[in-house]
Formats: sequence, C-alpha cells, structure tokens
Amino acid sequence: MGKEAFKKILTEEVARIDTVHTSKRSERVMEGFTKEHCAIIGGKEYTLFNSNDYLGLRFHELVWKGEHEASEHYGAGPGAVRFISGTARVYKDLERALARFHQRDDAMVFSSAFATNVGVIHALLKGQSKDSLVSGETLVVSDALNHRSIIDGIRVAGLDKTHRAIFEHLNLEDLTHVLKENAGKFARVVVVTDGIFSMLGEYQDLQKLQEVCGAHDEMYAEGIHTIVDDAHGVGCFGKTGRGTEEVTGGTADALVGTLGKAFGADGGYVVADQTYIDYLRESAATYIYSNPFSPGTAGAGLVALGVVDSSEGKKLLEQLHTNIAYFKEKIQAAGFTLAVDSVHAIQPVLIGDAGKTRKLVAALFEEGFLVTGISYPVVPQGSDEIRVQLSAEHTREGIERFVEVSVLHGQKLGII
Ligand SMILES: Cc1ncc(COP(=O)(O)O)c(C=O)c1O
Repeated sequence: MGKEAFKKILTEEVARIDTVHTSKRSERVMEGFTKEHCAIIGGKEYTLFNSNDYLGLRFHELVWKGEHEASEHYGAGPGAVRFISGTARVYKDLERALARFHQRDDAMVFSSAFATNVGVIHALLKGQSKDSLVSGETLVVSDALNHRSIIDGIRVAGLDKTHRAIFEHLNLEDLTHVLKENAGKFARVVVVTDGIFSMLGEYQDLQKLQEVCGAHDEMYAEGIHTIVDDAHGVGCFGKTGRGTEEVTGGTADALVGTLGKAFGADGGYVVADQTYIDYLRESAATYIYSNPFSPGTAGAGLVALGVVDSSEGKKLLEQLHTNIAYFKEKIQAAGFTLAVDSVHAIQPVLIGDAGKTRKLVAALFEEGFLVTGISYPVVPQGSDEIRVQLSAEHTREGIERFVEVSVLHGQKLGII
C-alpha cells in the first residue's frame, strides 16, 4: 500500500469536497476577451459580472504598452530575488509611485497581495529569526470575516491562542471591549482588517477604527498598530480611487493593496512610514526569499497608477459609480433583495438557498453572463448570494439585459 494509502485519503477528500459543493477545480477556460467586459468561452461571448477588473484597465492600451516596454527593457522575469542580484529600476519607480499615490514614505511590492499579507503580518507579529526583538508580547486582533491571506499570515506567525483575539465582524464596540480587556497584558497590539470585505462589498470604518485604537493606545507600552488589506478598495473605491481610507477618512499604519484587481495588472504591495518599511525589507520572508512579479507587470502597474490619476481615470471612476448606482436601482426595482447596502462595485444579491443560487448561476451562464454564487460555508446558511461585480466597462444596456434575464429566471425559480 504505502503511498497508495495516502493517495486514497486524498481522493476521498476530493470526493467529500465535491459532495458539499465547495469544489473549485473545474475552472472555466476563457479563450480570449472582447470589448465591453466579455470573455470567450467555447466560442461564445459571456459578459463578466464577476471580475475584479473594476475599471477595465486590464485591456487599456497604455497599460499594455507599459508592460511591453518594461519587458523589452528588463526581460520577461526578474532573474532572482531582489537582494541577490539587485532590483530593476522599474520596481523602484513603481514603489515610489505607490508611496506617492497613498501619501506614504515608502512602498514594497510582493508577488501577490496574498504574499504581502503573509509576509507583513508574520514579520510584524513575530519577526523572522529566533533572535528577533519583535518576538513575544504581541496581541493580534482580527475581524471575524477577514480574508484568508490575513488568517494565514496570523497562522504562519504561530502565536499561541492567548495572543490571538477576534472581534465581531465590523463591530468596533467589540474591538473596544477586546482592547480594554487585554490592557496591561501585552506590550503591543496589532489590529488587522480588510478594508473592503470581498463577499458582501462592506467596508470597515477606518476612521472609527483609528479613533478606537488611538483611544486605547496608551494602555499598551508599545502602542496599537493597524494593518489594513484594501485589495478590493485601492484603485476603484472613493472619488480618486484611494480606497477605504479615502471613503472613511481613516489611515492604516500599514496599508496592503493589490495591482491585480482595479489596476488591471498583478502583484501585491504595502505602503507605510519608513520605519515599518525598512523593518519589513529586512524581515518579510515572502519579499526576501521570493521573486517579485515580472518587470513587465511592474511597468503595467506603474502606468495603471498614472491612468487612475488622469482625467480619463476620473471618468472611469465616475462611470463605475454610475454603473453601481444604476445596477442597485434596477435590481431592487425588479424585486431582488441586496444582502447589504454596499456602495462598492461588489453587489451581493440575496438568494437565500444554495440550490436556487446554483440554478440561477447556471441559467445566467446559459444566457451569456458570468456571475459567482456564494453559499455556506463561505456565508452563513440561508444567506446564499450571487455576488455581482460591476465595472466601468459595463454599459447601461448590458446592465439592463442582465437584470431582465435575472428577473426571468428568478421568477421561474421562485426567488422573486
Ligand atoms: C481581501 C483580499 N485580500 C487579498 C487578496 C489576494 O490578492 P492577490 O490576488 O493579489 O494575491 C484578495 C484576492 O482575492 C482579496 O480579496
């Protein structure tokens, strides 16, 4: 038996996952894309209502040009991790642009936002070496619905249970309670939260979070530090695309973002003041021991930042916000309920039943629309939803057609 015995366990685990309908491995293959936010699958066009490309920058000519030029100049890949053979100028230019965009001292880029969260959280909670001065005396406090990459960052840091706390989702009174309860027990606290929560499009009120942390800061000898992952916020949320910080007026000590959603490129980053960044360049393992994304991607990201800040970017942001408002008006007038009143491009249409959610997703697919159904255990039982993601590229007619088709099948399935 030997290896076969373990492979049997793996096969059984896959079968178990299939029976609880959380399987993810049968990925749709997209052969290409067309204008107006469409993918080609099996020769047919499907409008994307499940893409993070909120501004349509993935296909922006200048962004491509930036990618091609950087690839031509610096090659297809980085060649080595940065501290080994040096760093191509384009990464430095991008980091300077990111720091400026978010009005911080400095920025660091990572292969992805997932890798950023794991690297930053691990380094700030625990440090990298056994001699680290950061080890010990830290309490980490995390929103109950934080993204998996935050959860994994905390896990990797390996703090024991007494050093980890969770506050109720978006409940800053509960956070206050946790901070009061632990006063004097730890030297420092690290509070970690998403900016935008990707399942429902809700946001954490960062201004209030900052006030709560500020009010309790002196109860801890080394203060309270905040890490905010605003992967879905940066580039598309707020009047100028600065994300949840812009909408709420609050500022994170370390702000994590991605270039792989609204900016249309790829890769993650953190911006912060110089002290944090200097320390993280010495300590974040996913930065030190892993390649950055390709120079071409850095070139694309650099141009995308410029596009967001241009008059065209302003128009794209306005168009996105118009599309969000139009979708909300139409879908609610048609009789659907939104699970929460999101003002972000993520709009959760409440279905409330796993079977009906699957059937509606399949019916929409047949009609040429791609959406994502979300069911238990990702959301509580009975809160099944269709997560619709709007983009500046959607047209009024496209949104109307999507709502019409949803109504047709929603009625057939007894959802509305
Ligand atoms: C909240 C949040 N953080 C981080 C990530 C990871 O982003 P990336 O694809 O850049 O690793 C995602 C992506 O799904 C996300 O939704």
